[in-house]
Amino acid sequence: MTARFITFEGGEGVGKSTQIKRLMASLNRAGVSVVRTREPGGTPKAEAIRSFILQGHCENWGPGAEAVLFAAARLDHVETLIGPSLDEDKWVLCDRFADSTRAYQGLTGGVPGRLIDALETLAVNGRAPDLTLVLDMDPQKAFERVARKAEEEGIPNVPDRFEKQALAWHRKLRKGYLKIAERDPDRCIVIEAEGEEDDIEKAIWTALAERFPELKAAG
Ligand code: TYD
Repeated sequence: MTARFITFEGGEGVGKSTQIKRLMASLNRAGVSVVRTREPGGTPKAEAIRSFILQGHCENWGPGAEAVLFAAARLDHVETLIGPSLDEDKWVLCDRFADSTRAYQGLTGGVPGRLIDALETLAVNGRAPDLTLVLDMDPQKAFERVARKAEEEGIPNVPDRFEKQALAWHRKLRKGYLKIAERDPDRCIVIEAEGEEDDIEKAIWTALAERFPELKAAG
């Protein structure tokens, strides 16, 4: 089966990590070997950049500098993990990728599109996703869900560099993602992420089986 590179995108708390885990299990059941990874991060160098950014160390350097740092992390991730995994015929499921820089730093943060384009070309280095699932939901509801889950699990809900932004900022982010999906319908599928986890999982599997008919044969 041809290796596929699938990315998950969306605002804060839309449930990407839960759905990635579920999709990985379904793909494994269909006999597909899968590498699950995330951005920023996925490799030691990229994880170091992740901590630096998310702890807010470069917050006052502005979104342009942050975009460059996210791209630096991505370059290492693509070179040392994503590219080699695809070359070994493994499917790669990545929690966030270049669309996050376009949505967060570009369309929401105001970094010009030509800089985002240049960084993307450099960091992605020809390894564009075959499919991007954009999980979409109202940010207010997403935050309520995150707070509820944290309380149930007894985990402190401390917002990071981006989570602490105002609701209006998150609404702009959501629109940015929808714009990205609209501009690139061959690659992106918007998944309505407000409902039950089981239903969202089914919608994602249906989307994959349509895009990659070889999965129907395997399943
Ligand atoms: P993370 O805790 O992984 O958030 P989430 O669970 O929502 O994916 O933190 C990643 C944060 O970094 C998230 O707020 C999105 C942001 N980000 C960018 O702003 N630009 C990027 O290019 C990437 C990859 C992430």
